[in-house]
Amino acid sequence: MAQIDWDSLGFDAYRTRTVVLAHYRDGAWSDIRTTETFSFTIDPFTQGLHYAISCFEGLKAFRQKDGGIIIFRPEKNAARMARSARFLGLPEPSEEMFIRMCELCVKNNMEFLPPYGHQASLYLRPLLFAPHPQMQLVPYPEVILAVMCAPAGSYYGAHLRSAAAVIPGDFDRAAPKGTGSYKLSANYAGTFVPYQIAHAQGYAELLYLNSATREYVDEFGSSNFFGIKGDTYVTPLSDSVLPSITNLTLQECAADFGMKVEKRPVPLEELSEFEEAGGCGTAVVITPMSHIDMKPVLAAPEVSRSFRYEEDGAVGPVCTKLYKRITGIQFGEIEDTHGWCHKIQA
Ligand SMILES: Cc1ncc(COP(=O)(O)O)c(C=O)c1O
Repeated sequence: MAQIDWDSLGFDAYRTRTVVLAHYRDGAWSDIRTTETFSFTIDPFTQGLHYAISCFEGLKAFRQKDGGIIIFRPEKNAARMARSARFLGLPEPSEEMFIRMCELCVKNNMEFLPPYGHQASLYLRPLLFAPHPQMQLVPYPEVILAVMCAPAGSYYGAHLRSAAAVIPGDFDRAAPKGTGSYKLSANYAGTFVPYQIAHAQGYAELLYLNSATREYVDEFGSSNFFGIKGDTYVTPLSDSVLPSITNLTLQECAADFGMKVEKRPVPLEELSEFEEAGGCGTAVVITPMSHIDMKPVLAAPEVSRSFRYEEDGAVGPVCTKLYKRITGIQFGEIEDTHGWCHKIQA
């Protein structure tokens, strides 16, 4: 195996040693198995491809300061995958099975788990999909749960570096009472083109508004939104936002710091009242936003409003404090008083 440069890892698909698999057939899950074959043979009529009968998760394993290995809050990802599966009508993997497969994925790919001290982790990607060839939308006789992993560093090329975001006036992410709060593969398909347009203009992120009225902040394309106002951590309450486990963790960290936490609808206007604002998620951890521009048409040059959070490029104190707290707990440098770190035996 080629030597991995742990300090320059980004966030990419990676060919590790094994993938962990379970099949659901005839009403029951098979035994869990591992394979070194990084490919599936699938029928061209596969439901997962045609109708996006597919959902996934993202969580991380860490090598801690004392040499131990943990997965961060895997029971929350298990519960969220079960919820996504219910929405799609797929069989739910139990929490026990989900966690066992994640643990096995770490153990079987140990040489890809970054050593302590590099601000890097092993990203786990469980995927649940219907591989059966079928034209009609009827129950799925076969389902695959695959857990793969990739060593991961920073999402945007640096840790705790601020980025710019744009509110696209001509794109929405999720319909009211639709799929937005589930981690469905389909939710990401509609963000690819807007991301390409935004990236070409130097924006790292897209901030979506609620699609019903476009009066409230929903979330970024790949992370939740939070804003800091005085000693209050504010994050949107919306039924079209993915319930982020990182956001939940940061809310608890903020409360530990004695901050107030408000989870409520966040009017667009309020973006001008925050001292700091950012995105949070497993992959990005925290991405402070230097500014958020609003554009009536994403591809056109006109910016109708701009909300600024950093004048001199310096990341704000609350984002910094929260980032240090969450990563400190993940790497075992700060005591895990909430019991978030799920230890695994190597
Ligand atoms: C749309 C979206 N929102 C929020 C998140 C953050 O969720 P979590 O903190 O559970 O990773 C993600 C990333 O997984 C995401 O894709």
